[in-house]
Amino acid sequence: MCGIIGGISLSANAAATVYDGLLRLEYRGYDSAGISALDGGAITTVKRGGRVSALGKDAAALAGRAAIGHTRWATHGAPSDINAHPHNSGAFSLVHNGIIENYAELKAELVARGYSFASETDSEVIVKLIDDCFSGDFPAAVAAALRRLKGSFAVAVLYAGFDGVIVARYKSSLIVSGCKEGIFAASDVPALPADAENIFVLEDGDIAVITSGGVRFYDFYLNPVARVQRHIVRGEYDSDAGNYPHFMLKEICQDARTVADTAEAFSRSADLAAISSAVGDAEEIIITGCGTAYNAGLMARRYFEQAGKRHVRIEIASELRYYPPADCSRALVIAVSQSGETADTVEAVRLLKARGATIIAVTNCGYSAITRTADIVVPVCAGAEICVAATKSYLGQLVALRLISRARSALAEAEELVAVARKMPEVLACDEMSSLFADECAQSSAVFFLGRGADYDAAVEASLKLKEVSYIFSDAYPAGELKHGTLALVDESTLSVFVICQPLTAEKCINAVHEVLCRGGRVAVITDDDALAAQLVGIPVWKLPAVNSELSPLLAAVALQLTAYKAAVLLERNPDKPRNLAKSVTVE
Ligand code: F6R
Repeated sequence: MCGIIGGISLSANAAATVYDGLLRLEYRGYDSAGISALDGGAITTVKRGGRVSALGKDAAALAGRAAIGHTRWATHGAPSDINAHPHNSGAFSLVHNGIIENYAELKAELVARGYSFASETDSEVIVKLIDDCFSGDFPAAVAAALRRLKGSFAVAVLYAGFDGVIVARYKSSLIVSGCKEGIFAASDVPALPADAENIFVLEDGDIAVITSGGVRFYDFYLNPVARVQRHIVRGEYDSDAGNYPHFMLKEICQDARTVADTAEAFSRSADLAAISSAVGDAEEIIITGCGTAYNAGLMARRYFEQAGKRHVRIEIASELRYYPPADCSRALVIAVSQSGETADTVEAVRLLKARGATIIAVTNCGYSAITRTADIVVPVCAGAEICVAATKSYLGQLVALRLISRARSALAEAEELVAVARKMPEVLACDEMSSLFADECAQSSAVFFLGRGADYDAAVEASLKLKEVSYIFSDAYPAGELKHGTLALVDESTLSVFVICQPLTAEKCINAVHEVLCRGGRVAVITDDDALAAQLVGIPVWKLPAVNSELSPLLAAVALQLTAYKAAVLLERNPDKPRNLAKSVTVE
């Protein structure tokens, strides 16, 4: 979703810090960007459709001690210069992340009071409303305006008569940190200057008034509130692609490290007994998440069933929040989210918690909304994931979920997972095969990913990865379902990628391979079975190292992530910033 940053600089260079921060926040949205800076009682705004870099040097060079900036993922109003943030009204300038649900009603009211609107955005109503509420007291005007909003927001506001920035949060992430350069608030840690190591996390309903004298926190009625500072380890937020051409490749290469770090952290966790009893005591386990996190949950349902747990459900969070079970007082909800800020997952968790469920959060972000709502937090140790498409966090989620399902034998299980991680470099080294798979995908009008059992779960995630970064149409099916309809789509322009690592159904999958081949469809196979690989002549076969078949999907995931990455590059897509998407989906 959108990313915002704003703050006060000890030098006269706030815009430069904001510009650099926006470049590091682009994974949250990249269809337009802008900066406002306050200098000598005057606000200057530069904003434009396109990437942050399209703002050019002029924006970074704006003079002034206070500045705010925005990188946008459009919700209301097409990406354009006019719809780009900041939005201004009189002496005020504002950036916003979120959605204002009652904006139409507020806009009608403001128009009736004589305001005119330049953009089609919902955000512009906030700054007009602040202007309208202003009668000499900036914080009071902001607070009064915010109390009228429905929806979600993180905002940063400048006022020409105030040497500082006011920021506020309701259901969209926002943190504040002091550093050598000054004090800055941002949607996420990577945007902050490199030396910012202690952060305040704003709660829903918080306003922070940032001046060169420090930061003060209030509620929306301007009652002071106390917020505790947390220390963060900046190494985890390394937001540089280094020698890699893209973050996606760098992050795939960190799959093994993520598996090992997540397994190690879990086996050292002080919560092992609590996790064990939460799982043991639950009458029902509901796993929830969105996108890739949901796909990790799909696989995890099998982990719990294999460990003997009955009544395990997997629910898409955006559905669960509106269609929850009537009684969840004996339920354990396992919420999976890389960012911990995905709006649908956050709301599902809040709702089910209010109905009595116990919550375990599996997340890569220790200060996120989901982390703070959960009863128990199981960290995914992936470090910063900058590419919009989730890769290493998926592996970390699988590991965390596997270990939650087996908390009693965590040490031995963690060792087995680390042993699987050691095989990952072997998979990544299959350069010719990954290029061949990518080439086959890139030539196809559609790619079907097929598998059975846990291989099907891996296929679902592989399909999502390929379509989001390459824009090739793709779908996943249990291989046995092919003949019940999808086979009608198979011809020489389509590719069917089979994942065959489950001994129980391997032969059945081979039947499906032949059914596709004899209808002229192209096929590629990933398997860890030597004998099976030897049977398949004349088609690309990617042979994986053999491991416990319950864990082989982890290796298949690495192979298929690399395939998706290479297909995107072959088709000249930017895999780090797929069109129309953004990371951290903080709106509904
Ligand atoms: C796909 C992807 C998304 C996210 C989804 C949930 O590559 O990144 O599908 O998995 O938006 O995000 P989190 O895990 O942050 O809740």
